[in-house]
Amino acid sequence: MTTPQLSALSVPQAFDLSGRVAVVTGAGRGIGRAIASRLAEAGASVGCADVVPDTAEETVDLITAAGGTAWSQPVDVTDRVAVDALVADAVARHGHLDVMVNNAAIITDSLVLDTSEEDLDRVMAVNFKGVFFGCQAAGRVMKEQGSGSIINLASGAIDIPTPGLITYSAAKVAVAQLTRTLAVELAPFMVRVNAIAPGWIDTPMNERHARRPDGSVDPEKKAEYVAQRSKVSPMGIPGEPDDIAFAALYLAAPAAKFVTGVVMRPNGGSTMPI
Ligand SMILES: NC(=O)c1ccc[n+]([C@@H]2O[C@H](COP(=O)([O-])OP(=O)(O)OC[C@H]3O[C@@H](n4cnc5c(N)ncnc54)[C@H](O)[C@@H]3O)[C@@H](O)[C@H]2O)c1
Repeated sequence: MTTPQLSALSVPQAFDLSGRVAVVTGAGRGIGRAIASRLAEAGASVGCADVVPDTAEETVDLITAAGGTAWSQPVDVTDRVAVDALVADAVARHGHLDVMVNNAAIITDSLVLDTSEEDLDRVMAVNFKGVFFGCQAAGRVMKEQGSGSIINLASGAIDIPTPGLITYSAAKVAVAQLTRTLAVELAPFMVRVNAIAPGWIDTPMNERHARRPDGSVDPEKKAEYVAQRSKVSPMGIPGEPDDIAFAALYLAAPAAKFVTGVVMRPNGGSTMPI
């Protein structure tokens, strides 16, 4: 779907995704759910993919209850064949794919010297190979179409060497470089490839620091942790999933037609690389 000259569009038109088709991985909760919801609210039909199928189904229910269009698909992004099938399914349903959001990720906490080969492989498989497979599957379709927007989730951890986060941050650095490389490779085909590197966002991923031994979240511990993490940014506030969803909406929308190879950093000013 080609984008007209922006000078011909009103502000609502520049952010309108009516008739567009999007797929979001890790759409069952947190940032992925917010992105799927906002893309649907802007008019896109959204494929909600997650390794936990019930949660993706819940996201679909929320979107349809709000008047949007969505479908769910179970997928483990480490499985290349399954990721290819996810994209093929979107194209079979709608005839095209306009937006691919490679959002699914996991996190483990361990110092470099304590990191097991198993953890290294697992985090790299989900956080880098999963994004790589999503880029390949969507990129092939979009190159053929001559249009599309791929959005990869990196992390603020790409800018700050953080003790205990080596597997996660190394995978995210690789995601940033994949994004920039693919942006150059697909630019002649009018396919845009960008990344978002969020600062600290209040999502289930970060509740791991406030979990009791039985797995439930301790609200007091969580509040303490949120307050502590908020101080990390000059703005002194925590991020919310919609801070990232609106960044994704911009990158998906006609408004960003000249934007590719960018790593956006919605992070309250935590890092400001030139
Ligand atoms: N929350 C933050 O502070 C933060 C900061 C920077 C970057 N990010 C990135 O934003 C993205 C979303 O983070 P979040 O905080 O919402 O995480 P989350 O853990 O709350 O949600 C991640 C979702 O991905 C799904 N998922 C995990 N492994 C999968 C797999 N193999 N296949 C398919 N789905 C899988 C999970 O089931 C879950 O629904 C991730 O890429 C994360 O690295 C988050």
